[in-house]
Amino acid sequence: MAEIKVENAVKTFGDFVAVDNVSLTIHDQEFMVLLGPSGCGKTTLLRAIAGLGMVDSGRISIGGRDVTYLPPRSRNISMVFQSYAIFPHMKVYDNVAFGLRMRKVDKNDIDRRVRRASELLHIENMLDRYPSKMSGGQRQRVAVARAIAMQAGVLLMDEPLSNLDALLRLEMRAELKRLLAEIDVTTIYVTHDQIEALSMGDRIAVMRNGIIQQCDHPTKVYDLPSNQFVGGFIGNPPMNFMQGQVQRHNGSVKVAIGDFALEPANLYQPILRSYDGQPIVIGIRAENMETLNKPADDALKVQVQVVEPLGSQNLLTVKIGDDTVKVSTHPTFDVTPNSDVWLRFPADKIRWIDREKGQVLYPA
Ligand SMILES: Nc1ncnc2c1ncn2[C@@H]1O[C@H](COP(=O)(O)OP(=O)(O)O)[C@@H](O)[C@H]1O
Ligand SMILES: [Mg+2]
Repeated sequence: MAEIKVENAVKTFGDFVAVDNVSLTIHDQEFMVLLGPSGCGKTTLLRAIAGLGMVDSGRISIGGRDVTYLPPRSRNISMVFQSYAIFPHMKVYDNVAFGLRMRKVDKNDIDRRVRRASELLHIENMLDRYPSKMSGGQRQRVAVARAIAMQAGVLLMDEPLSNLDALLRLEMRAELKRLLAEIDVTTIYVTHDQIEALSMGDRIAVMRNGIIQQCDHPTKVYDLPSNQFVGGFIGNPPMNFMQGQVQRHNGSVKVAIGDFALEPANLYQPILRSYDGQPIVIGIRAENMETLNKPADDALKVQVQVVEPLGSQNLLTVKIGDDTVKVSTHPTFDVTPNSDVWLRFPADKIRWIDREKGQVLYPA
């Protein structure tokens, strides 16, 4: 059992709060991705879990054991860094064996574990080679093999693929996912790449300014973001945001975009009623609008500014009021720049956002 529990962790550097009262539980054998923009505190949090930087306050436990004040070697963890930190003058075999030798593991046991880890990473034929003669991708494999050979209950990875080129990253992403499913390990994987996070994580903890904004399954974080930041950070293109105005018509609430009125789903009527007469932010993803090439009562007329044919879709850029909005259409949808199209907003795809707080509003 290697459940990781972080409770109210705080880490400051002088006046700067890098990790701001973070609480997070990673289940035994879960693959948790820590996602957020550069500087949001991901590495600081990971280092605190590893024991490489002590928290100012709070508690960290691994497998039910309080490790808050224990040194890294007593925490049952292994780590892979962005800068692989492998030794170029040491053969691959010795690199993979390094941590085991440091711990004075029995020689036969080391050999068995080095070979097993190397097979998992497909580097079993390179054990006699020197990393200085290997490609970036191969060196990355050595670093991962070394971490895995330790057979620690917890694997901490800090942007392990960010030094690889795009194609190799794509390949290693799937490879790592396969590999980590094969071994019994609880993983925390740090990245600033939201695609990597969506594709790899069992769950994603989205971080900003030292605070976890949302922690949930990838589809939840994508479809039901907790706030505007998460919606805008995740997805390519990010979620669209538009200004609207809440208006009461007889019994029901509508939301005006200019002189067009959206009809919120029944579920959202009670929440929106309290915003009567006030502005609200409308969030919707590019693929969730329906595009028509002729008018309809329930569709908003917009002018197309840019058409980007992306193969599997055509991405349109349109202007709605002062907001620039991306709309994904089928590649066969016939459209040219400066032409008019009509957009339909399915009620269940719209996210209503409090303009001041940035909070997405959900029914209780
Ligand atoms: N040793 C340190 N001394 C002072 N500030 C630091 C130190 N380590 C990190 N920081 C600051 O803490 C913030 C979070 O850093 P970091 O955890 O590395 O972010 P991330 O990994 O998300 O990019 C950054 O603003 C960084 O400058
Ligand atoms: Mg970092």
